[in-house]
Amino acid sequence: LDNGLMKTPPMGWLAWERYRCNVDCENDPKNCISENLFIDMADRLYEDGWKELGYNYVNIDDCWTLRERDQQGRLQADPKRFPGGIKRLADYMHNRGLKLGIYGDMGTYTCMGYPGTPVEKIQVDALTFAEWEVDMLKYDGCYSNDTDQALGYPLMAKALNNTGRPIGYSCSWPAYQGGLPPKVNYTQLGEICNLWRNYGDIQDSWSSVLMIIDWVFTNQDVLTPAAGPGKWNDPDMLIIGDFGLSLDQSRSQMALWAIMAAPLFMSTDLRTISGEARTILQNKMIISIDQDVLGIQGRRILKEKSNIEVYWRPLSNNASALVFFSRRTDMPYRYKTSLSKLNYTTGTYKVHDVFTDKTDVLMDSTVFEVAVNPTGVVMWYLSAPAKPQSLHFLRGGKR
Ligand code: GLA
Repeated sequence: LDNGLMKTPPMGWLAWERYRCNVDCENDPKNCISENLFIDMADRLYEDGWKELGYNYVNIDDCWTLRERDQQGRLQADPKRFPGGIKRLADYMHNRGLKLGIYGDMGTYTCMGYPGTPVEKIQVDALTFAEWEVDMLKYDGCYSNDTDQALGYPLMAKALNNTGRPIGYSCSWPAYQGGLPPKVNYTQLGEICNLWRNYGDIQDSWSSVLMIIDWVFTNQDVLTPAAGPGKWNDPDMLIIGDFGLSLDQSRSQMALWAIMAAPLFMSTDLRTISGEARTILQNKMIISIDQDVLGIQGRRILKEKSNIEVYWRPLSNNASALVFFSRRTDMPYRYKTSLSKLNYTTGTYKVHDVFTDKTDVLMDSTVFEVAVNPTGVVMWYLSAPAKPQSLHFLRGGKR
């Protein structure tokens, strides 16, 4: 969507995967969906170095409203859980250079049964969100049918635009349509949404991450061309820091989400996150790969019989990223290859391992070996190739 927003994939924090629809603030005040939770996360983003790295959205998901609209037909935040209201929460974010995201659903109800925003409510809700100075809307699709969706998703885009407030627009539409053409029209999505969920919800497990990876890269010929500045495929939240992933699996999620040019929305408790998880999520080089200005989504380029897979993403300044991913479950696998085997052109490349910070210089023809842990990755940033002639020249070869 060409609204000047999200020229690189949005980054931040989103409540759903970790906090779900926990509305029991009496017994679980620290973890229930309430303004305190979003304020706590905003404080962590602001004070613990996340904001500087680009993580600037704090996003509310389902279960923030009362069960009824107010007398004027507007959505209202639950006053027990959001006593300051959404506008004050937005102010809190803006005072810290952060942004606030909110959640709606284009059906009669949200997925958890709270009031939805069906077609006839789109105008009023878009206006309400703009009045509250919200910066992003995730528009879900539960309790709506194909016809409603085809009408509602473009209509909400217009309504948001008409408010005059820049509001990033996340559409769950394709996820409710199987994610693939001919049912899904990615050209249209790119025109009306800044990002869109293509596929099912992520859960706190490695099998869930694997399912998403497999679906995205199986369908890469359809999905890759759909992405670009202002319009992103959204494979769903990062679950790094939660309970389901090992250290290697956490690195794999981060690496492959960056290859996918994915929105980076963490859904974890930033108050208690481990140092290991934080180090992965705050890896500057991986973030810069994810956030590359060209916005070209990467691809799986090889599936070896050994169960090693190779992923590649072209980056600005003639650079690129490579990920070696092991689907094995035995032991670190020593994968041997060369850049020319991975379709790199003749030349010399500087290689930077994003997790170990080790660098190396490789010619396209150099045979190298990477040791890839079970369910883990090795990820490289490769800078532009030096021309073989200039290298020859530097070495004082024949002119
Ligand atoms: C759907 C969405 C999730 C989350 C829940 C909330 O399942 O895909 O991301 O928003 O609804 O109920």
